[in-house]
Amino acid sequence: MAPCWRWNSWNDSLRVAWPRGPAGAGRAELIMSSRLLEPEWLDTLPEADERAARSRIDLQRLNRIMGHDRILLGLLRQTRWPVRCLIELGAGDGTLLLRLARQLAPRWGSVRVILVDRQRCVTSVTGEEFNRLGWPVEVITADVADALANLERPRTDGVILLANLFLHHFSEDTLRLLLKQGAEVCARFVACEPRRSRLSLAASRLVGLLGCNGVTRHDAVASVRAGFSLRDLSALWPAGSAWDLQEGPAGMFSHVFAADRRP
Ligand SMILES: C[S@@+](CC[C@H](N)C(=O)[O-])C[C@H]1O[C@@H](n2cnc3c(N)ncnc32)[C@H](O)[C@@H]1O
Repeated sequence: MAPCWRWNSWNDSLRVAWPRGPAGAGRAELIMSSRLLEPEWLDTLPEADERAARSRIDLQRLNRIMGHDRILLGLLRQTRWPVRCLIELGAGDGTLLLRLARQLAPRWGSVRVILVDRQRCVTSVTGEEFNRLGWPVEVITADVADALANLERPRTDGVILLANLFLHHFSEDTLRLLLKQGAEVCARFVACEPRRSRLSLAASRLVGLLGCNGVTRHDAVASVRAGFSLRDLSALWPAGSAWDLQEGPAGMFSHVFAADRRP
């Protein structure tokens, strides 16, 4: 690892890291050492608010631009066993998972979908689209901790838990609990989050150029500051458990984490 130095424009230290593992092999980048959590505007606006609705449309576009559809599809396609159930945490309007479902349905057959979010923003059209694929969908409007605590949990095999642009909302202490709860209900956990790097921070300040509204412009920067790098999420995964972990950079601005329960 290279030495650290101070960056004056923001009270945070920077360092050059050469991430290990398949995703980051040989790639050097400037990462920011500590996470900075601040409330995101989308979380505080009522779901019917026009600015929130517009920001959710921005998110669909940003997911595509950042390559999250492709990255998550790649991760999901690595699954070696038949998938029975896909649970998305912080699913928002559910359209990201719908796009993934359209790609996966021909090979995976029918999969039960559970969309968890504190706000109810999955439209009936999205629900019908899932049904048309033969993927029955259930929407749980609740805080993620409550939703995970109340999930019926007959078997973990065949169950994937997915999170996209969601885990960065939480402090390390909360994440440790959340990941522990998650590990109890699934055989695979995959997440795609903002990467806490200078490049991502610079790009997040430019989303206005893509026509994103004020909510998205604020939240994009906040998300990167609260994002992940190195082995942040692996360090929070329940210790001593029998899981294979992968973590590292993906695309230009993102960070992936995958945990697979060993057979
Ligand atoms: C940045 S959005 C991402 C939405 C979706 N995953 C996507 O990529 O379009 C984060 C989502 O997390 C939800 N959220 C935030 N905190 C939550 C919590 N404690 N429990 C459940 N959902 C939460 C918000 O309502 C929001 O829909």
